[in-house]
Amino acid sequence: MATVEELVVRNRSCRRFCEARRVDPQTLTALVDLARRTASAGNRQPLRYMAFTAAADCEAIFPHLRWAALLKDWRGPAAGERPAAYVFVLAHTADGGIPQCDAGIAMQTLLLAAAERGLAGCMLGAVDRPKLAGACGLPAGHELLYVVALGEPAEVCVLEDARGGDTAYYRAADGVHHVPKRQLSAVLLSGARTAALAALLAGTLLSGGCRTVDDRFYWPWEEPPQVDSARQEQALLRAQHDSSLNRNQIEGLVQTQQALDTRLGRLEAASAENARLRADIAALRRDVEQVRAERDSLRKEIVDDLTDRIAKYMATVGAGNRPPTGATLKQSGYSHKVETGQTLIDIAKAYKTTVTAIRKANNLKDDRLRPGMTLFIPDPSAP
Ligand SMILES: Cc1cc2nc3c(=O)[nH]c(=O)nc-3n(C[C@H](O)[C@H](O)[C@H](O)COP(=O)(O)O)c2cc1C
Repeated sequence: MATVEELVVRNRSCRRFCEARRVDPQTLTALVDLARRTASAGNRQPLRYMAFTAAADCEAIFPHLRWAALLKDWRGPAAGERPAAYVFVLAHTADGGIPQCDAGIAMQTLLLAAAERGLAGCMLGAVDRPKLAGACGLPAGHELLYVVALGEPAEVCVLEDARGGDTAYYRAADGVHHVPKRQLSAVLLSGARTAALAALLAGTLLSGGCRTVDDRFYWPWEEPPQVDSARQEQALLRAQHDSSLNRNQIEGLVQTQQALDTRLGRLEAASAENARLRADIAALRRDVEQVRAERDSLRKEIVDDLTDRIAKYMATVGAGNRPPTGATLKQSGYSHKVETGQTLIDIAKAYKTTVTAIRKANNLKDDRLRPGMTLFIPDPSAP
């Protein structure tokens, strides 16, 4: 588990994220649950929070934020690197208190807890409040103080000692974001205060045997070190402090590298799985092709076999009834049963043919007909 010191060092303002890796709403709720328990002036607790994790909400919020004013050539995170969640910090104005101060404490706590969970974020004060209020529907009686952007980090940020009072953060050619911090000796004013106290006391105490050596005050019973050794002690302290800062910086980098290693591992696993799936798909395609070829060949076999069998059948069945070669079917007509009193002339008229044709078709020697006999009447329209 990370110590507070490790978390404070790791918790840098991050402005590029793995946008696709969404933050679940429960995580944001847990972060706000921590923030709400932090110090508050007069314990008035004027802060309220709104949490957003949905991609559509994040898209609506993003255009109204301003990023890293000191990185002049950079216009903020590109699509795919934008935050995956936001927490709005609001002041419920009726509660009074000192909301700006409370907000700083709450946001830092929230971001430390986010760092503990492998997330990173950035407090944003440069936001278009009226537009955000319109886009997100802020409740009445509330003022938007800050927006905290959150997500899985996609950039490396390192601390370094500020040189000559220059605190401007910058992005190096390798993409690493550098954040210079004033050195301890520049911000911890105890030495000066001791000197002032010593000066104050000097008038009254020096006569009693008190001494100051290198800005440090010594009571009469204390053995002041030699001037040189005092200087060496101070130099040693400074060196120890510098090395502890460097250690923190290295630890921060190790943590960042571990986070990147984890992401890389995840991506490599996903890409291996991808390759396996692709190979499976290719094997399946080959199987489908083979089955298709087998089906086509089977279908051809069946059709050939059937054609063959039909041809054979036709050859055997058709042989007996077949007319001699060159013969053509010529005769077509009607079958007519002769009724009592009917003559050949009557029948020839009824079928619009001739007596001769009927006689010829039925091999009649004369015109006598017997009732009930069946005659073949040739169709006069047949060729
Ligand atoms: C009150 C406050 C408001 C900030 N507003 C913005 C902002 O609007 N846009 C931005 O990119 N960074 C913003 N920052 C982040 C600072 O730029 C960042 O803290 C600073 O560069 C130091 O980096 P560090 O947080 O890694 O120590 C804000 C920080 C604070 C404390």
